[in-house]
Amino acid sequence: MSVYAVTGAASGIGEAVCTILRTAGHEVITVDQRDADIVADLSTAEGVAVAVAGLCERAADGLDGYVPCAGVGPNFEPTKLVRINYYAVIDTVVGLRDLLAKRRGRVVLVSSNSAPMDFQNEALAVALLESDRAVAEALAVESHKVLSAVYGATKRALARWMRHNCADWAQDGICINAVAPGMTRTPLVTDEMQGGTEALQKALLEFEQSIPLRCMAEPSQIATVVDFLLDGERSGYCCGSLLFVDGGIDAQSRPNEF
Ligand code: NAI
Repeated sequence: MSVYAVTGAASGIGEAVCTILRTAGHEVITVDQRDADIVADLSTAEGVAVAVAGLCERAADGLDGYVPCAGVGPNFEPTKLVRINYYAVIDTVVGLRDLLAKRRGRVVLVSSNSAPMDFQNEALAVALLESDRAVAEALAVESHKVLSAVYGATKRALARWMRHNCADWAQDGICINAVAPGMTRTPLVTDEMQGGTEALQKALLEFEQSIPLRCMAEPSQIATVVDFLLDGERSGYCCGSLLFVDGGIDAQSRPNEF
């Protein structure tokens, strides 16, 4: 039995990851703003500290894997969006490094297939990576006018952070990989589809129809890939890999870039 930690475990992809891991007999320690072993608001520094301290206490012998899955969608308030989708991910991963090193643990980040898309978000992605938090948050407020610009930038920066750091972390026996899901049937998407403006609902429906596989993913279809990347027996040589699980959208939109 292995010990894993998952944030955003109360819903969607995070919940589906927990189901797969528990069904296989593993222990999963959950973190979320509700319905979790460790209840913490990851949009705040205090919440991040509570999450890291709680995991250090509950998994004192080390972690076999960590999935920082908590996230919010493109329409969320921009400052909080960058804190939850980027800084909380990096801060918790860094805070858990010693625990992960104890068991040669594996980290799976949850990026997005929007990470390489061109939403005029490069400056924000760079600012996030350089950890200039004040500049990044100001840029986020500015670029929020463009739909998905801030969201895409956080996911781009996550993938880059992984690529910048995976070699160093591998020295401690920790493999960091990431998934880049496409549109997935979770409240993050369905709430927008049901409650968003007419224009947004139309845009989301058109986007779904443009997916080569002609439907959005179910959370379990992303979770099985996360499970694969967590399992060193099956994916032991993956290090710094970004796996697109998006029904073919990335290949369709960027056939020559990989
Ligand atoms: P979801 O809305 O079903 O789940 C997100 C979870 O994060 C919820 O349980 C929520 O309570 C938690 N969370 C949000 N803000 C929090 C905070 N401040 N503190 C603690 N927990 C918080 O969404 P979904 O789709 O499962 O999202 C999971 C990850 O997958 C996110 O990082 C998202 O960006 C990513 N993703 C989702 C896609 C989709 O189409 N659903 C596509 C690509 C990436």
